[in-house]
Amino acid sequence: MKICCIGAGYVGGPTMAMIAKQCPDIPVHVVDLNQTRIDAWNSDKLPIYEPGLQEVVQEARGRNLTFSTNVDAAIEEADMVFISVNTPTKTYGIGAGRAANLEFVEKCARQIARSSSGHKIVVEKSTLPVRTAQAVKRILSSEATNLTFDVLSNPEFLAEGNAVDDLLDPDRVLIGGESQKAIDALCDVYARWIPRERILTTNLWSSELSKLTANAFLAQRVSSINAISALCEATGADVDEVARAIGTDSRIGPKFLKSSIGFGGSCFQKDILNLVYLCEHFGLPEVASYWEQVVTMNDHQKQRFSERIVKTMFNTVSDKKIGIWGFAFKKDTNDTRESAAIYICRDLLRERARLTIYDPRVPAEQIRAELTYACTDNNGQISEVDRQMIENNVEVVNDCYEASRQAHAVAVLTEWDEFKELDFEKIHHSMLRPAFLFDGRNLLDRESLESIGFEVHAIGKSSQRRRSDD
Ligand code: UDX
Ligand code: UDX
Repeated sequence: MKICCIGAGYVGGPTMAMIAKQCPDIPVHVVDLNQTRIDAWNSDKLPIYEPGLQEVVQEARGRNLTFSTNVDAAIEEADMVFISVNTPTKTYGIGAGRAANLEFVEKCARQIARSSSGHKIVVEKSTLPVRTAQAVKRILSSEATNLTFDVLSNPEFLAEGNAVDDLLDPDRVLIGGESQKAIDALCDVYARWIPRERILTTNLWSSELSKLTANAFLAQRVSSINAISALCEATGADVDEVARAIGTDSRIGPKFLKSSIGFGGSCFQKDILNLVYLCEHFGLPEVASYWEQVVTMNDHQKQRFSERIVKTMFNTVSDKKIGIWGFAFKKDTNDTRESAAIYICRDLLRERARLTIYDPRVPAEQIRAELTYACTDNNGQISEVDRQMIENNVEVVNDCYEASRQAHAVAVLTEWDEFKELDFEKIHHSMLRPAFLFDGRNLLDRESLESIGFEVHAIGKSSQRRRSDD
């Protein structure tokens, strides 16, 4: 058995590294069009940050794990080809803003058909709309000359920042397919380290839909608790207390009830919009609008947070320095795709604030690129005002102390552990008064910050002033 994976991204890279680690006798070849990315996978500075990943890669690389740009050769040699390329939301044409862009998946299928002979098992790892496997099969059958194949759906459920643990000890592995022989071949790979009872098999369509549904349910929980956070701020209830109270009900469970500035990441929004598009396509408008509301609430949460900052700071942040702590979409990753921080920073910049941003893992160029992208319209244009504002009013610095010095306010946008260990007396001392602290992750200990003198505003908690007025 030989494995090839097309796409060395956040999913393809770690997943293949784990398979190679656990199956030393199976050669695993990861290919990508992007030479820089491949070079990084072959170096000591991997292109993605994941706790524990470096060790996994180091153990297998050079033994049975290879990274290269030789796509055709890797496909030809493999018995099993994973497709793990990105499937972003379409930005143009039919389904723009909702449907998944399957251009890269289609190109992969054509490439597999052209550069292959014999029998291949083609595994969809990318998140795809239901019935994409059908399209992949049609492309393979119409282009292939000397090839027979089976198509499997094997969606990935790893969460970034936790990828190594999720791959090592997943709640379940899902394999959808029609051919029992192909399903068994992939089961045998995972069964090297995952108990058989955790490997679920379904038909192709159920597997494809389960991935979208799992992400939709998870995102829905975040939007639900965030909706309640708005009511908590208005009424004096505390969202963390409400989350604890409802989370102890075993039917609800405690996970994914952390109120925040909104979910980000490459999957949640994209997958829900995809689900919405599918529902509309299949003539189910009520179902579509039900799920769309999860995204609407998430957008509202981001907007509500930046508005709260402006309102609290005497209705203007113009020319005020605001220290931004964290830019990644969650802790323990350098990924900023759809990070709520992007939109909050953009909105504050448009209110003419000066931002001093620090994130332990996200480089300055990436922060500027994300802000630029968020200000770009559908025709790829950015206004001169926005361009200048990103150039002149954004400073990326090396730690939280620098970010907070002489600042009117600090906003915590990512829940990095290191933010809990700071010298808050020192930070308070270096800030202007009143020293506003907006905790967008309910990460910090509010009481001790208030005793130092900060004016703290946390998600789903009424403000200090309001409490003393009551
Ligand atoms: C994955 C899934 O594939 C996506 O469907 C899911 O919803 C999120 O996770 P991810 O690994 O995060 O995507 O994407 P990314 O980090 O962008 O990696 C994709 C890689 O595929 C890139 O390195 C890109 O260069 C490569 N690619 C893309 C190819 O090699 N060939 C192509 O034709 C297109
Ligand atoms: C998600 C799914 O969890 C994973 O199974 C799937 O394969 C890909 O999409 P990921 O996007 O990496 O993983 O991270 P996740 O931990 O799910 O967090 C997504 C977003 O929700 C983050 O911005 C996070 O900060 C936010 N979140 C999560 C909350 O705001 N509150 C919570 O309680 C949980």
